[in-house]
Amino acid sequence: MTDVPLVLADGIVRRDASRGQTLLEATTFALDAGDRVAITGPSGSGKSVFLRSLALLDPLDAGRIVWRGAPVERAAIPRYRRNIAYIRQRPALLDGTVEDNLRYPFELHAYRDVRFDRAHAASLAARAGRGGDFLDKRASELSGGEAQITALIRVLQLSPHVLLLDEPTASLDPESSRAIEELVHAWFDAEPRAHASIWVSHDPAQAARMSARHLTMRAGVLDERPRATVHGESRP
Ligand SMILES: Nc1ncnc2c1ncn2[C@@H]1O[C@H](COP(=O)(O)OP(=O)(O)OP(=O)(O)O)[C@@H](O)[C@H]1O
Ligand SMILES: [Mg+2]
Repeated sequence: MTDVPLVLADGIVRRDASRGQTLLEATTFALDAGDRVAITGPSGSGKSVFLRSLALLDPLDAGRIVWRGAPVERAAIPRYRRNIAYIRQRPALLDGTVEDNLRYPFELHAYRDVRFDRAHAASLAARAGRGGDFLDKRASELSGGEAQITALIRVLQLSPHVLLLDEPTASLDPESSRAIEELVHAWFDAEPRAHASIWVSHDPAQAARMSARHLTMRAGVLDERPRATVHGESRP
């Protein structure tokens, strides 16, 4: 392993294109391999803006993203997005079955070198407590929890290095939330020195469970708390 961060946000800024208002103040942040980060902060403070910027889903107004020491140029963004997956609160699924949804990314140009593996997908579903028939369910008939499990499996089967989890369990029942946490734990533990995650949560207990590093976002300003306070905040 080297000392180079997995992802470096180097002075990144995001503004509202129409009003010119700054959504994310100039932010420099390094995510190292092995990091498990939580971000908390008030609604509207810029947590989603920050995660989407890290994933280069929205254009930056200043600064750059550096992946393993190499700045990500525009033409390399699709390749970069293979490494870093953004999971949002309300997943968007296609019509069709769960399996159709899981097969979908393999139709994209960026994934033409890999094939859908039904056994692998089924094993991920099993880890989330879902039986063999789960892949045959209609996406339109899934519960919110099952839809989020599907969205997470869709990402995990592609073996990303970084997961950006944007309140993935905010509207879910406790059992589905545990399944999501379990899938993320298993993914991290498979390669704990190569993977890294950022989990945005309004739940301090969940933030403590899913991280060892705690950041707060306030009015577009990201702040890191001393690592020691993370333990003081954990709840039983
Ligand atoms: N694409 C966009 N264009 C303009 N303004 C935006 C855009 N995306 C977000 N905003 C604004 O940026 C601010 C931060 O939004 P953001 O979604 O990052 O908040 P958040 O911290 O994720 O809140 P929550 O906890 O409710 O999810 C809000 O005022 C929002 O309206
Ligand atoms: Mg948000």
